Amino acid sequence: MVSKYHLENSLIYLDGSDIPRNIVGITDSDELHEFERELLTEAYQVFYNELDDNTVFDEAYFKSLHQRTFESLYDWAGQYRQFNMTKGGSRFCQGAYIESNSRKLFYELEKEDYLKNMHSKTEFIKRLAYFKCELIALHPFYELNGRIIRLFFDMIVRYNNYRYIDYSSITPEDYINASIKCVQFADCTAIEKIIANGLKD
Ligand SMILES: Nc1ncnc2c1ncn2[C@@H]1O[C@H](COP(=O)(O)OP(=O)(O)OP(=O)(O)O)[C@@H](O)[C@H]1O
Ligand SMILES: [Mg+2]
Repeated sequence: MVSKYHLENSLIYLDGSDIPRNIVGITDSDELHEFERELLTEAYQVFYNELDDNTVFDEAYFKSLHQRTFESLYDWAGQYRQFNMTKGGSRFCQGAYIESNSRKLFYELEKEDYLKNMHSKTEFIKRLAYFKCELIALHPFYELNGRIIRLFFDMIVRYNNYRYIDYSSITPEDYINASIKCVQFADCTAIEKIIANGLKD
C-alpha cells in the first residue's frame, strides 16, 4: 500500500530519490547542489547589501530568505512543510505544529529584540545558540533548512558587527551530532561551542 507520507513525499522528491523536483528540471544530484550553491552565494551578497539598522529578523524575514534564495528553483521556496519528517533517528517538529511553534519562537526572539542589543559576547552566543537549536528542531522547510538557518544567523551576526560564523573547522558529522543533541535532547551546548569557536570578529 502506498502510504500518505510517500504520496506527499513524492510531491517534493523525484520518485525513489532524495533529489527535489525543481523548476529547471535538473535530475543530477551534483548539478543540483552546484546550482543551489550559486544561488546561495548570490543570496549572501544580496542580503548583506540589504542589511541596515532597520532590518527586523522576524519570521517574515526568515521565510523570505528561503523564498528569495530558491524561488527560481523550487516552487515551495519560502513555504513551511506540511508533512512530518525524520532524519537518522531524529524526529523534527510535526508538520501540523510548525506554524504555531514558529510563531511562538519568533515571538520569543522579538522579546529579546532579535539579539540586537545583547550586553556581552558570551550572552549573545548563548542566546544565538538557543534560537538556532530551536530552529534546527523545527526544521520548517522541506529542504535547505541547514543552509537557510546558517544564513539567517550570519545576518544577525553581521548586524552585530561580527563577520560571520565559520563552520570550516568542523566536519559535517560534527554539525549533525550537535544537531542531534538539539533535536533529541533539547541540548544546545554542542551548537553553542561550534558558534563560540566559529564567530569571527
Ligand atoms: N540525524 C539528524 N538529527 C538531527 N538533525 C539533523 C540530522 N541530520 C541533519 N540534521 C539537521 O538538518 C539539517 C539539514 O537539513 P536540510 O537537508 O533541510 O538542509 P541543508 O541545507 O541541506 O543542510 P546542510 O547543508 O546542513 O546539510 C542539518 O543542517 C542539521 O541541522
Ligand atoms: Mg539537505
